[in-house]
Amino acid sequence: MAEVIIVPDAQAAGGLVADEIARLIRANPEVVLGLATGSTPLPVYEALPERLDGVDVSRVRGFALDEYVGIDPAHPESYRSVIHREVVEPLGLDPALIRTPDGSLEGIEHAGADYESAIAAAGGVALQILGIGTDGHIGFNEPGSSFASVTRVKTLTQQTLEDNARFFDSVEDVPMHCITQGLGTILRARHLVLLAFGEGKAEAVAGAVEGPVTASLPGSAIQLHPHVTVVVDEAAASRLQFADYYHYTYDNKPAWQGL
Ligand code: PGA
Repeated sequence: MAEVIIVPDAQAAGGLVADEIARLIRANPEVVLGLATGSTPLPVYEALPERLDGVDVSRVRGFALDEYVGIDPAHPESYRSVIHREVVEPLGLDPALIRTPDGSLEGIEHAGADYESAIAAAGGVALQILGIGTDGHIGFNEPGSSFASVTRVKTLTQQTLEDNARFFDSVEDVPMHCITQGLGTILRARHLVLLAFGEGKAEAVAGAVEGPVTASLPGSAIQLHPHVTVVVDEAAASRLQFADYYHYTYDNKPAWQGL
């Protein structure tokens, strides 16, 4: 089962995960990171610069989970722009080594296969950061996504369009299609770190961690992975049946285990 760490707030979660990412970069300067967009990973990205002071990050590689289809890559809300602004620039990474799926309409038929090949050629993702949607999606794998799915075009649910409308002028401006790593792609990363904060995520988190493994709640795919860490605040943990046990196991965690 996933390790569940319940922390007081998002900042504490950011620090924990940033510690692990900094450790990975120090151990392997060419490490391949799996990056996520949305509000959830921000505390991780904000905590990283001070932990990477003096560390050579020039060869760190990264793959984002997803991108909108048909969006101008220069649009401030394209995930390419978001990753650049929130991760590449503040950390001083080489932009040529940090990729997002290509959402341009031209070549979209093979953009998924190209992305899969690029991830494989890089040796796979060492640590994949994940948020979770209120409908249980990870990446943009909406309910019903196959556990074997690879990077491909998906249609966003109305719920996701509404959830993401805050980044655009209106819900009509949110692109309806996306290109996202599949659940099969995500499951090939060597360590999954899923973060969630706030009451609005409580049901999705409970379903992902403790519910039945079902394509109806794509986040439940994490139960099929051998190394998963779920880091949540008390509000996002509020529907977890075994929250007391998670506190107890974390309080008694052997020091040698790491994240
Ligand atoms: P959020 O999105 O981090 O902005 O809440 C999470 C997700 O949709 O995966």
